[in-house]
Amino acid sequence: MAKQNIAAEIARLRAEIARHDHRYYVLDDPVLSDREYDALMRRLLDLEAAHPGLVTADSPTQRVAGKPLPGFAQVRHAAPMLSLDNTYSADDLLEFDARVRKGLGGDGVAYAAELKIDGLAVALVYRDGRLARGATRGDGQTGDDVTANLRTIRSVPLALIDPPPALRDIEVRGEVYLPRPEFGRLNEEREEQGEPPFANPRNAAAGSLKLLDPAAVARRNLALFVYGTGEPPRGIAGHAAALAALRDCGLPVNSEIALCRSIGEVIERCNDWEGRRDGLKYETDGMVIKVDSFAQQRRLGATSHSPRWAIAYKFPARQATTVVRGIEFGVGRTGAVTPVAVLDPVSISGSTVSRATLHNEDDVRRKDIRVGDTVFIEKAGEVIPQVVKVVAEKRPRGARPFAMPAQCPSCGGPLVREQDAAAWRCGNVSCPAQVKRRIGHFAARGAMDIEGLGSAMTEALVDAGLVRDYGDIYALRGEALVRLERVGAKSAQNLLDGIERSKANPFWRMVYALGIRHVGAAAARLLAQQYPDLELLAAARCGDIAQIFGLGEAVGASVEQFFANPANRKVIAKLKQAGVRLRAERAAGVAQTFAGLTVVLTGGLEKYTREQAAELVSQRGGRVSGSVSARTSLVVAGADAGAKLAKAAKLGVRVIGEAEFERLLQQ
Ligand code: IVH
Repeated sequence: MAKQNIAAEIARLRAEIARHDHRYYVLDDPVLSDREYDALMRRLLDLEAAHPGLVTADSPTQRVAGKPLPGFAQVRHAAPMLSLDNTYSADDLLEFDARVRKGLGGDGVAYAAELKIDGLAVALVYRDGRLARGATRGDGQTGDDVTANLRTIRSVPLALIDPPPALRDIEVRGEVYLPRPEFGRLNEEREEQGEPPFANPRNAAAGSLKLLDPAAVARRNLALFVYGTGEPPRGIAGHAAALAALRDCGLPVNSEIALCRSIGEVIERCNDWEGRRDGLKYETDGMVIKVDSFAQQRRLGATSHSPRWAIAYKFPARQATTVVRGIEFGVGRTGAVTPVAVLDPVSISGSTVSRATLHNEDDVRRKDIRVGDTVFIEKAGEVIPQVVKVVAEKRPRGARPFAMPAQCPSCGGPLVREQDAAAWRCGNVSCPAQVKRRIGHFAARGAMDIEGLGSAMTEALVDAGLVRDYGDIYALRGEALVRLERVGAKSAQNLLDGIERSKANPFWRMVYALGIRHVGAAAARLLAQQYPDLELLAAARCGDIAQIFGLGEAVGASVEQFFANPANRKVIAKLKQAGVRLRAERAAGVAQTFAGLTVVLTGGLEKYTREQAAELVSQRGGRVSGSVSARTSLVVAGADAGAKLAKAAKLGVRVIGEAEFERLLQQ
């Protein structure tokens, strides 16, 4: 392809991917399957790897770019990021309306009423339509420069879509949040790993956005809603119209906004949402009421703390009191045993609650929760609520302090608590509860996505002894299935079809489905890129994996441990025998110049960034490692190569320069 055509193809792919990201992450209305999307991305990655000079910061391949930071730079906001006054009742809203109308000398006023998203305020600066900088609110005057982290949020456009001139250079403001399902998943994962769970989605969003490693942030699946601009955009008269214009540029603007002609309408709207907020995919703690007209906003002005033209109406906390009737124990995929409170059923904002997670031993001890206690429970974005505290006065006499069981509630095996971790674990890999959870993870959407293998089917298969690990799934036969009590011919066939289809899943999904500790979907993609064959991944060393950009020691150690385990190797042998895809499809037409070689990149290369060079090597069958050892096949040394070059010389490892590297790439 001529250079010009390649540039055009790259531009076309970027626009197409951005369009699909927008449909998926902003409009929630995808039109491509994961596989079709992956193919577009793959093609773009290949072209960019072959033509690194054409890589630009707004390419969708560059969302997670850059190294972990030592700390955040400080950013001074162009206009201060103010806060809002809170109100809690209809009377408060009536007072607000009276103040506003007095301030406007009796003019009519329209209000925009929107949801108050429970997250963390940020400001994003677009220059010439491209995302240039993003910062947290901080103290309102200065915040942290979290640009690299905000870029990883898939609903944040790296480039605005056809912005009109007035919106090309603009500061937008919004709330970064963690969608509820992600919040639940994150806390579950943290419990599995013995880390303290986040108390609410806001803390989780804040903790995530302030991680110093953008790759770790990307794994959190944060999202954004834009709710305003730093300064009113030129030529737009009011807030609702401005948001509509921002939405048209591809920015994620919440669609639940109403323009109200009176405060009565506002109050109605607030009451309405109070009853409905549980149905949302994100957590909201109230509504924000804003005078719509920018001219009126200007006339009303602001105090040093908050604008006089806006106010927050806070929903009451979703709390209730109830009695703990018992404490049960759930067993997770990696054997973590989690205490769960069984409660007298109680209604919290419309739904009945009868269980609450107690997270881990330390948490229960700290709150001193005992069977028989009356407790405050709260829903904070999770489907399963949490126990906030015990009502001490109501403790029945003789209530006994909490103790973890010594044995696994599922298999009866001994529980152990690892050093420095809060979780107790069952170490029996064949424990039925663990097996069910592992199968559940393996078959889940996002992993192998096996249709027909839901929790009831998993339960039936494991209980009948037909499936002891996920390798067994592929040995299932129709006759055995229909003999199961709870399974009909149709669901048996449905399952078999689903199993067959899953064999051709992209390789990274397989890596994710294995359920290796610390390996989520994003890490699995990185691993599959670097080790495009399960054999290669199985032979990888902790140190080499830890060097991969975006991964780290924890992932490295866990992967090495996983493949060192003979039980896991046996399961993988079953998968292999069944014909499940255990390697990536190779990029067509690229010579496997580095096949079987371990390559170390050091010093600065002129034509490529370290990540691009690594991608090129791995496409050509090579493995990139971060440290020189006796197992290194080749060192590519750029300018200012230092210690690694010296070590290579000492070990007698072959060293080549950029020119020779370039020649090998062209082969
Ligand atoms: S407008 C001048 N709109 O609530 C302040 N804020 O308690 C303009 N928030 O710092 C803020 N959703 O982080 C606005 N739809 C929304 C919001 C919202 C959440 C947050 C924001 C703000 C805090 C104030």
